Amino acid sequence: MRPAWNLDDNVRVSIEGPRMSRNTVTRRSAIHGNGVFAARKLPAGTEVMEYTGRLRTHAYIDKVYADTVESGHTFLFTLNERYVVDGNFDSNDARWINHSCDPNCKPYIIENEAGDKKLDRIVIETQRDIEKGEELTFDYGIRLDCRHTARLKKIWACRCGSPKCIGTMLKPKR
Ligand SMILES: C[S@@+](CC[C@H](N)C(=O)[O-])C[C@H]1O[C@@H](n2cnc3c(N)ncnc32)[C@H](O)[C@@H]1O
Ligand SMILES: [Zn+2]
Repeated sequence: MRPAWNLDDNVRVSIEGPRMSRNTVTRRSAIHGNGVFAARKLPAGTEVMEYTGRLRTHAYIDKVYADTVESGHTFLFTLNERYVVDGNFDSNDARWINHSCDPNCKPYIIENEAGDKKLDRIVIETQRDIEKGEELTFDYGIRLDCRHTARLKKIWACRCGSPKCIGTMLKPKR
């Protein structure tokens, strides 16, 4: 089994790609490892960066990343029903953005207008005003195929530090 971030409803269709500038800086985070921080004040609705990486099929991910669920770490981002963006390869600083239970950013899938699933993109946007120096976070929305046992919740323990923290990066199952 392999964990990957999932987006539920935040899908948009766009003819143009987003325009982005150098808004962020990557450094060590109090949440975990590396994190991404605002390099200047970022108003709500700013497209901060695209989540890039190598495009993989779900079949490939299931085969190659089987059992990584035990690691508590992932750079995999579900793009659509056909593809996953693998941030282990050809990625950018977006792969360092940490999870929070009370996030200040939100990822969107920008669907290719012609319906080419390979050309869909993931863009991360601020969902409120963010001060210079604040760490950027989004909700990973990780739902595993198996039951979210206490053991798995511990492996995927959340250290976002928010008063709203639910203690795990695993999304409650609906
Ligand atoms: C895409 S990486 C984010 C960058 C990560 N900080 C690093 O240095 O590799 C995702 C992984 O970072 C860790 N992580 C991110 N947010 C976290 C959080 N709120 N609490 C604990 N670990 C977190 C988890 O291991 C997660 O699988
Ligand atoms: Zn949390």
